[in-house]
Amino acid sequence: MRIKLLAPAMLGLALLAIAGQSSSADLNKQPRAAGIETYGYAWNSPDQDLNRALAHPADAEKGQADYKICKGCHKIDGSGLAEADYPQLAGQHASVIIKQMMDIRAGRRDNPRMYPFSGDWIVSAEEIADIAAYLNKLPTPATNGKGNGYNLSRGKALYYKDCASCHGKSGEGDAKKFYPMVAGQHYSYLKRETRESRDQGRRNASLEMVKVLKRYSDADIDAVSDYMSRLKVAEKH
Ligand code: HEC
Ligand code: HEC
Repeated sequence: MRIKLLAPAMLGLALLAIAGQSSSADLNKQPRAAGIETYGYAWNSPDQDLNRALAHPADAEKGQADYKICKGCHKIDGSGLAEADYPQLAGQHASVIIKQMMDIRAGRRDNPRMYPFSGDWIVSAEEIADIAAYLNKLPTPATNGKGNGYNLSRGKALYYKDCASCHGKSGEGDAKKFYPMVAGQHYSYLKRETRESRDQGRRNASLEMVKVLKRYSDADIDAVSDYMSRLKVAEKH
């Protein structure tokens, strides 16, 4: 882990800020790559960084050590922090974790708070694969944030009509297709990401999903997110 490089990078930024300059060497600034708002956007188009990580024979034990850079936000057990929109990562598919990291560091998904911790000068593609393998093995806590429970029957109907075909009957997602597990995720995060995807703020979202979400009101999203937050995947540990 090349974490020690972070300090000189930050010092460099501070000096630039003092000098009132901006620079392409501004390592901590989130870049902006073409996303869903772009004509001809193709979801999950081939990416070298992603392929390198996916091809790496991942070592979960090494990943546990490398996870130290993430745990300030995503917490030691991978449960995240609902109030700060830090997603729950424990038990998430390794492929999903890797794709989201690569999208963030390439600027296809905006995440300015996490960006300074995601660059390849902090974590290599191989280290990301190791961390993802470690997180995938962690048990998914059932203590995730839930909604108010008022509209669960509506949420359930919407989920099985429009979402389960990709996110799975129990919210388990699909590792091979990069479909996230939504079970065990915080309600507030599910709601936020669903709205952002509908409104094209999540710039790496699946076009097929966005087509479905365009018909959704905020109330629909609240209901389906509450339902998703209560799904449980079969114990795999
Ligand atoms: C400064 C806090 C912070 C740190 C450190 C951090 N993250 Fe994040 N991470 C976030 C936030 C905030 C989001 C959600 C951003 C959003 O969608 O707005 C996020 C999202 C993610 C996601 C997307 C999950 C999903 O289901 O959509 C993954 C994967 C992830 N982080 C992995 C990591 C890994 C691996 C590390 C360590 C190398 C790390 N994060 C370090 C704050 C952080
Ligand atoms: C065609 C398949 C498909 C359908 C149908 C679909 N999704 Fe998705 N969903 C995806 C994919 C793919 C992603 C990850 C997108 C990416 O690459 O960032 C995703 C991501 C998400 C996320 C973010 C999860 C995370 O951990 O970051 C949420 C929340 C979500 N979908 C909710 C829904 C809801 C609610 C519905 C039904 C109304 C739905 N999806 C229907 C494919 C689908």
